[in-house]
Amino acid sequence: MTGAEAFVPQTRDLAELAKAARRCEGCPLFRDATQTVFGAGPKTAKVLLIGEQPGDREDRAGAPFVGPAGRVLDKALAAAEIDREELYLTNAVKHFKFTTAERGKRRIHKTPSRTEVVACRPWLLAELDAVSPEVVVLLGATAAKSLLGNDFRVSRHRGEILHVAGLIDGQDPALVATIHPSAVLRGPSDTRAEAFDGLVADLHTAYFTTRTVRSEGSAGSGTFMPATSPVRK
Ligand code: URA
Ligand code: SF4
Repeated sequence: MTGAEAFVPQTRDLAELAKAARRCEGCPLFRDATQTVFGAGPKTAKVLLIGEQPGDREDRAGAPFVGPAGRVLDKALAAAEIDREELYLTNAVKHFKFTTAERGKRRIHKTPSRTEVVACRPWLLAELDAVSPEVVVLLGATAAKSLLGNDFRVSRHRGEILHVAGLIDGQDPALVATIHPSAVLRGPSDTRAEAFDGLVADLHTAYFTTRTVRSEGSAGSGTFMPATSPVRK
């Protein structure tokens, strides 16, 4: 397996990148999926959100976060008073990985392997390079591990504002890891509200990081001071 590298053109025009990604054969996932689901949103986005991979609905529609997880994300963004139109939304892996139940055609989501995540990363890095966001939100373990390494634990660092030197040449976006929206849909109903509130709080933290001011006397130190206090309890 070669990875996506050989398929990623030099351009940082998002439409050109998306077009090239349609022909990617950097890992075996292109074979069974309907199409590549590239990221979507304005090049000027200050906040870039990364999910895991397209789901069944996204695979058919060719757009990210248009299915059940997308609806949870939409509700969480609304609760955090964030306009989805301002954001660039993408996934760590650009093709839907699934298994098919013995009978019927229902396609069941399968978590992408580490190899597939690494294979697809050149597309993600190209998107980050093109958009140059101030803040990157990592939705769930797959996205977080794609950028921060396999040992990263969302549970340990969620909602923190992280900086990683050398991730993308010439950029130093703030990174905020949180749960994946689909995690809100799992588990008993009494924990769902709590999970949802946690997601909203982390999105709020991430978004309002874009309104930060560098603290007096530490200009250039790279220290970020939240302009509003995070809503985390
Ligand atoms: N889950 C994801 O991680 N991404 C999508 O686009 C849809 C569901
Ligand atoms: Fe290429 Fe990523 Fe699709 Fe694999 S999942 S074929 S690396 S676009």
